Amino acid sequence: MRVAVIGSGHVGLTTGVCLAFCDHDTTVIDVDQSRIERLKGGQLPFFEAELGELLERARPCIHFTTDFAAATEADVCLIAVPSPTASGGGVDLSFLRSAIDSLGRVLADRRSTQPMLIVNKCTVPVGTAAMASEWLRTCLTVSAEPQGTSTASPPLFTISSAPEFLREGLAVRDTLYPDRLVFGVNSGRDEEVLRELYRPILEGSFPPLGSSSGLPTAVPGLVVTSVATAELIKYAANTFLATKLSFINEIASLSSALGTDIQSIAEGIGLDHRIGRDFLSAGIGWGGSCLGKDILALVETAREYGLPTPLLQSTMEVNEGQRGIVVRLLQEELRILKGSRIGLLGLAFKPGTDDLRDAPSLEIAGRLLSLGATVCGYDPVVQAVPLQGLELRPSAAAVAAGADALVLVTEWDEFRSISWQDLAATMRRHIFIDGRNMLQPSVLRAAGFCYRGIGG
Ligand code: UGA
Repeated sequence: MRVAVIGSGHVGLTTGVCLAFCDHDTTVIDVDQSRIERLKGGQLPFFEAELGELLERARPCIHFTTDFAAATEADVCLIAVPSPTASGGGVDLSFLRSAIDSLGRVLADRRSTQPMLIVNKCTVPVGTAAMASEWLRTCLTVSAEPQGTSTASPPLFTISSAPEFLREGLAVRDTLYPDRLVFGVNSGRDEEVLRELYRPILEGSFPPLGSSSGLPTAVPGLVVTSVATAELIKYAANTFLATKLSFINEIASLSSALGTDIQSIAEGIGLDHRIGRDFLSAGIGWGGSCLGKDILALVETAREYGLPTPLLQSTMEVNEGQRGIVVRLLQEELRILKGSRIGLLGLAFKPGTDDLRDAPSLEIAGRLLSLGATVCGYDPVVQAVPLQGLELRPSAAAVAAGADALVLVTEWDEFRSISWQDLAATMRRHIFIDGRNMLQPSVLRAAGFCYRGIGG
């Protein structure tokens, strides 16, 4: 199929590369000229495991451009642009609006007799696809005949919703091996086009990835529903995950007070298949560009209907409190933070990405700096930090040298194989806060550290 993808962020680029890998003739369009030039040269605009290799393999079927006219003859046009939190608390739809306007300026030139299926992949409030349809109709009526509803000429487009469930750091695997696909459609024809687009993924018939270890073998589930329902499914999924995390983090605080073991508690409840072990790892709370933003958006939607959302609000509050736990533990152990030197291990909001959006590291560093500590950090992939005073160091050893305490913020695999004894030898005092409960307390204690985890 001929596919256009508007937006080359985590969702747009991964989707574009994976669809090209599945043999669809794919064009990725973005307004950022320098990003497009870099992509043409095979350079990714962000760190994402496996995506670079897949882009190389997909090269024959993928093109990059800033010219929206390239979308005109596509059978399917996916939109994957940012939908950040607006200043008033709702969702900022200006990127989506701008993508639709750009499409509206070229769509009238379409020669195909089939309507273009526009697939919204942005996380947007219920009703947005319907609203985008109106925006596009308005663009087209300004330039020509009314489209989309006219009985005289066939519609130029239809809009559906296929929400995205990929996780940063696992984006390729989540796209090619999703647990499920959700198609929000207005007609049987739209469903058919989406089935055709996703056939290689639904059937698992794309070429094998380099390593097959840990890949799921089950075929993805498929939910076909209305567009509005699909839009709400995405919010429900992310807010459920966030609620699960805040639940285990709340239990972790209780576990800490009682002196019980939160890891065993997570195992003990997670083995119940109705609960499941995923998203039960207690820690310094979630970060990233999605969970917090989506809770705020859903709370705002509920507010429009006069509905209270106490569960979602508590979910947010628990998460806000989690980041403060690190500061409290440091105060308990070091007593006075002024003049202390704290080293952060890992800065990205989670492993596998260099994304610092809503990263706990930045908030923790900001609080420590404001309390008079000196803070430095190391991350295997983050190259720059948007926080004045937080000094970036080239290795874990460089972070430890002269420090009073280390805080493990991001659970990068390389931290498993560090010689803690060697690091301890260069430190001033030996406090270790494991913000992800990643390491064995006994190993750290044997290396001379005072080890504190979350909920332990
Ligand atoms: C999340 C959802 O998981 C995806 O399904 C969704 O597609 C995506 O948002 C989106 O809306 O685009 P992502 O933000 O990439 O994906 O990250 P997650 O893997 O969900 O992790 C979120 C946060 O939860 C991270 O800070 C992570 O460290 C934290 N987390 C996760 C825990 O603290 N404990 C856990 O057990 C799991």
